Amino acid sequence: MTLSVLRQTAEAMVKPGQGILAMDESTPTVGKRLKAVDVDNTEENRVAYRTILLGTPGLGDYISGAILYDETIRQSTSDGEPFPELMKRQGIMPGIKVDTGAKELALNAGEKVTEGLDGLRERLEEYVGFGAKFCKWRAVITIAEDKPSRACIEANAHALARYAALCQEAGLVPIVEPEVLINGAHTIETSYEVTVETQRQVFEQLYRQGVQFEGMILKPSMVISGTDCPQRAGVEQVAEETLRCLQQTVPAAVPGVAFLSGGQSDEEATQHLNTMNQMAARLSLPWQLTFSYARALQNQVLETWRGDAAKAEQASQALLHRAKLNSLASLGEYAP
Ligand code: 13P
Repeated sequence: MTLSVLRQTAEAMVKPGQGILAMDESTPTVGKRLKAVDVDNTEENRVAYRTILLGTPGLGDYISGAILYDETIRQSTSDGEPFPELMKRQGIMPGIKVDTGAKELALNAGEKVTEGLDGLRERLEEYVGFGAKFCKWRAVITIAEDKPSRACIEANAHALARYAALCQEAGLVPIVEPEVLINGAHTIETSYEVTVETQRQVFEQLYRQGVQFEGMILKPSMVISGTDCPQRAGVEQVAEETLRCLQQTVPAAVPGVAFLSGGQSDEEATQHLNTMNQMAARLSLPWQLTFSYARALQNQVLETWRGDAAKAEQASQALLHRAKLNSLASLGEYAP
């Protein structure tokens, strides 16, 4: 696989005015989201919900690609059309989550390492057959007293790099996602320190494994105060510190940075992205800055739908609305 194909895909994923829809919740995780709106976690309901998301008319204007869970890439919509076919019609590239989850890190209580490397080469080959163009792997870093440990950062960075190398070998663009969790009472300063150190280690390992930066996308968390921090930083500070962190750690060859929402409100996630893009114009940064949100795009869709087929169209409109606002934010043109 030549680098130019990977580069083209990566650039298309972060095309100006477009972002990524993360809808790769595992079956237990989507179950939690469905339960919150009193919907049973049955295959039929999961298909109906994901048909609403991907069938939204005009979604391809704002969404370049969607990250699917293994089950979805093999399934068909409620009308019997394979999901990858529907996505093709919508002009949305299929992506696939390939990690098998964050597991307890041995000898480091309360910390996690993401698994899924065993047999990954063969699984990637199968996903290419389903039309996948890119992949996702999420590492989770927890901030607490004496955490994160070096062991946690290094194990996760190494796994991300090995995953990314396998993806590029298969012609798939890796989304490299080191998420520093928002949970905790930490300050934005601590978030900055941990995020810088994590991203430094991640790029060091990517370099050592020979990953081509032109053919990958970084999906980081924003530098932000913990949810239980008594003094939470405002929008300008989050935007400033996040950009400062990226400037310290992300090579210019990376085409794009697509943030996760990580438990921020829908509005916060949009405002932070917008402010960063307004600042980016002045700093002439080398990367596109866009979104790869799950919750901050889907919250309103679930609330509107609540399992009622009669509300499907209205739920689609909620997704389109949020996608449009985030598209504007990715251009620095959102006006709250
Ligand atoms: P959130 O935007 O809900 O954080 O999810 C993004 C994601 O893909 C997590 O892996």
